[in-house]
Amino acid sequence: MSILEAFVGLLIAASISLATAQQGNYPSDTVQTAEGVDLQLPPTAFGGGIEGAAVNARGDVFAVDYRAAGAGPGKAFGFFSETEGGTKSVLDLAANPIFNASTEGVANPPLISGARFLKDGRILIADANNSRVLSVKDARPSTFCANGAMLQPNDLALSVNIPEMIYLSGQNYTATTVAGQHGALWTCAGSTAIQFPPALLAQADVHRTNGIETSPCGKYLYLSSATNVAGNVTANRIYRFTIDTPTGNLVGQIPSLFHEFTGADAAIDIDGMRTDVNGNLYVTRNGQGKIVKLSPAGQPLMTINLPGMGGPSNLEFGGAEGKTLFAVGPCKANATIGCAAKFEGETVGKAFSLLQ
Ligand SMILES: *[C@@H]1O[C@H](CO)[C@@H](O)[C@H](O)[C@H]1NC(C)=O
Ligand SMILES: *[C@@H]1O[C@H](CO)[C@@H](O)[C@H](O)[C@H]1NC(C)=O
Ligand SMILES: *[C@@H]1O[C@H](CO)[C@@H](O)[C@H](O)[C@H]1NC(C)=O
Ligand SMILES: *[C@@H]1O[C@H](CO)[C@@H](O)[C@H](O)[C@H]1NC(C)=O
Ligand SMILES: *[C@@H]1O[C@H](CO)[C@@H](O)[C@H](O)[C@H]1NC(C)=O
Repeated sequence: MSILEAFVGLLIAASISLATAQQGNYPSDTVQTAEGVDLQLPPTAFGGGIEGAAVNARGDVFAVDYRAAGAGPGKAFGFFSETEGGTKSVLDLAANPIFNASTEGVANPPLISGARFLKDGRILIADANNSRVLSVKDARPSTFCANGAMLQPNDLALSVNIPEMIYLSGQNYTATTVAGQHGALWTCAGSTAIQFPPALLAQADVHRTNGIETSPCGKYLYLSSATNVAGNVTANRIYRFTIDTPTGNLVGQIPSLFHEFTGADAAIDIDGMRTDVNGNLYVTRNGQGKIVKLSPAGQPLMTINLPGMGGPSNLEFGGAEGKTLFAVGPCKANATIGCAAKFEGETVGKAFSLLQ
């Protein structure tokens, strides 16, 4: 990171703690506003399909749609900021990308999307174009789980309590969506893929699913839903599912509504979602260039503006202490190029914490 970036980050942190100290117990309906810092990625590093933000145990942060190595859209996965050195080595082809998906031997060209690091160093990467999740070890992929009936998958969340268990979102973007049909929820218990009953999603009015994340205690799964009517996006909600913690299985139930974006915000898609160790949920607002922080009760606490980014697609906590919130998405100035921004938070991210 540059000295200027570090300085701006400090200023932001200082202004937030000052506001808190001055106002004391400000009302729960007060939503703070904070500013992120553009990382100024080299424009040749990532394409506009940048997403799948993921953190490793060191706090380095990665994303998909790395392009500098000549890989096609959605094929390569590399770091966009390292804990030591920041963005300095992003274009170093000896170091990046750390995975380049082969187009050979698969039904469709791979389109890698969501990604997460496991404690043993493997990376799970969703391939939205081939209904599968890859497990990547030392740049070599194997199939973690696959099922031709999966919609995409798009993003993935790890079970907190059960190793080798993940939850997957996926959507079919149609002009008019049907609840339970154009969005899905799957669990992979190792290689066994199980679909959450579409009838229960339909009863809860769950449409296109995208953001997916577990709570730090492992008891809840958050899943976003967006509704389309005649080409217009008409609803954006986050649902909460209960997880049976001893098994990691989703309890067969109608999920409860956790948060709904209303008014003009209803038309803005939710994309990536991540929790911190205190159970706050951070949600990218794709199209508004910002992140909204929700309390464990679903109350908006803070809005973090992301300069340079029109539609943040995903986010993750990283950095040496796991408290820096990074976001990625197409650049505002040119949506074919990938941008990244960061915000110095006060709480450690759940994913980083589980890797320590
Ligand atoms: C990644 O794959 C593309 C073709 O799919 C190839 O042109 C490029 O050289 C590869 N890059 C690396 C770093 O392996
Ligand atoms: C996904 O697969 C379809 C069908 O093979 C192909 O037309 C499309 O280009 C693929 N998408 C990407 C981004 O590679
Ligand atoms: C997406 O939805 C459309 C309209 O319902 C349908 O025709 C199409 O087969 C669906 N695609 C997938 C991959 O399910
Ligand atoms: C969709 O949005 C357009 C533009 O705002 C509006 O004119 C139209 O009535 C909307 N359609 C529906 C079905 O709401
Ligand atoms: C956006 O970036 C791409 C890739 O660098 C470039 O080819 C294109 O001309 C740019 N578009 C604009 C409007 O600057």
